[in-house]
Amino acid sequence: MPLNIIVGAQWGDEGKGRIVDYLAAGADYVARYNGGDNAGHTVTVGSKIFKLHLVPSGIVHPHVIAVLGNGMVINPRTLLDEMSSLRGAGVSIAPQRLHISPAAHLITPAHRALDKALEAARSKEKQIGTTGRGIGPAYTDKATRRGLRLADLLAPDFRERLLAHLHESNRTLSGLGAPELDSEEEADAFINQSSRLALYIFDVAAELHLALKQGHTVLAEGAQGTLLDIDHGTYPFVTSSSTLAPAALTGLGLGITAAREGRVMGVTKAFQTRVGSGPFPTEIKGKAAERLRGTGQNPWDEYGTTTGRPRRVGWLDGVLLRYAVRVNGLTELIITKLDILSGLESIKLCTGYSVNNAIVSDPPGGADGIAACEPIYEELPGWAEDITAVRKWKSLPKNAKAYLERISALAETPIKLVSLGPEREQILEI
Ligand code: IMP
Repeated sequence: MPLNIIVGAQWGDEGKGRIVDYLAAGADYVARYNGGDNAGHTVTVGSKIFKLHLVPSGIVHPHVIAVLGNGMVINPRTLLDEMSSLRGAGVSIAPQRLHISPAAHLITPAHRALDKALEAARSKEKQIGTTGRGIGPAYTDKATRRGLRLADLLAPDFRERLLAHLHESNRTLSGLGAPELDSEEEADAFINQSSRLALYIFDVAAELHLALKQGHTVLAEGAQGTLLDIDHGTYPFVTSSSTLAPAALTGLGLGITAAREGRVMGVTKAFQTRVGSGPFPTEIKGKAAERLRGTGQNPWDEYGTTTGRPRRVGWLDGVLLRYAVRVNGLTELIITKLDILSGLESIKLCTGYSVNNAIVSDPPGGADGIAACEPIYEELPGWAEDITAVRKWKSLPKNAKAYLERISALAETPIKLVSLGPEREQILEI
């Protein structure tokens, strides 16, 4: 039975959370495999809006077991806050249904302080615009083999190791001219909180392997998006984890054959957005941008869930979408926020790039080669109708269908779901 993988096909914020929520109805496990609380998923169920950063969005379905995989970096404080707000909203959070890999890494207050200090030390043009959540420094410690993992919470010498990490971080902070942390105080508070997670540590790699063998369905949820991948994104303006679909395997501890029969779903907005710095060929500014971004009054307007920053917006980039299909091995596309385009007279779609007097349909040399590219657009007629209540393909306006068909043809990938509003049921299956 399948391991289905869902990833963001753009720069994150594609609306994966609500799609995972929709698909989780048919899954037994929902498992996050990368990133940390830099992610922000908004899920609306009836009148309740959940903002989740670490817990997979599938948790709101009572039958789902939620898994946090070894590829993640976990800030215990954020996780505990999230667990208690979910409990407050009536969602059951218990060790029976929330399992954390012992090999996931911990984010400490020192990682957060270092993230901010390192960002402040970069010159303006080199600033990444990180979320300040300590993601980069935590993955740095993982790669340099001095990280602290969930399993370490159970070790008798954890306090000493945590203190050593805090002292070392203080030396770096002081070198950067940033205030140092009170190591003893931070260590006490950190241990006090994080020890509450010990009950949730579970051998999730073995669990998921067995679950698949027994015929259960696992939905692997990627955080951030394709173009923020540490290797294949717009480096250096990326996050520090592997965001792509293949990383679901290493990030959960599954072997390559686990993905043999599953679906690989790429979620893309009907337009393009980005938070933070870095190249964005189809970016637009001014009134047209405000129209796509919204005013910030609605939870679905284009303002970061984690940082509240207004997102940069632009037209859908078909070149980068084709790239996302290729590097993830997408078997299908899911389009979100098509309803936002209703009422536009015409819609631009980037179908190629002009670079050094040549026209290309793939990013030259990978996603980090797009900075010098000029988008080439096709302009398609818009539609005036409100489509938020449409549930059947045949009821969509002709021009909306034509827009989706053009996207699918460009990406050479079928579109299986289209979301037309924030509610659970505002989804059209094709
Ligand atoms: P970091 O992951 O906090 O280190 O930030 C690195 C880059 O990734 C910045 O440009 C962030 O804005 C971006 N980023 C990180 N997480 C997300 C996300 O969940 N959605 C969108 N952008 C993100």
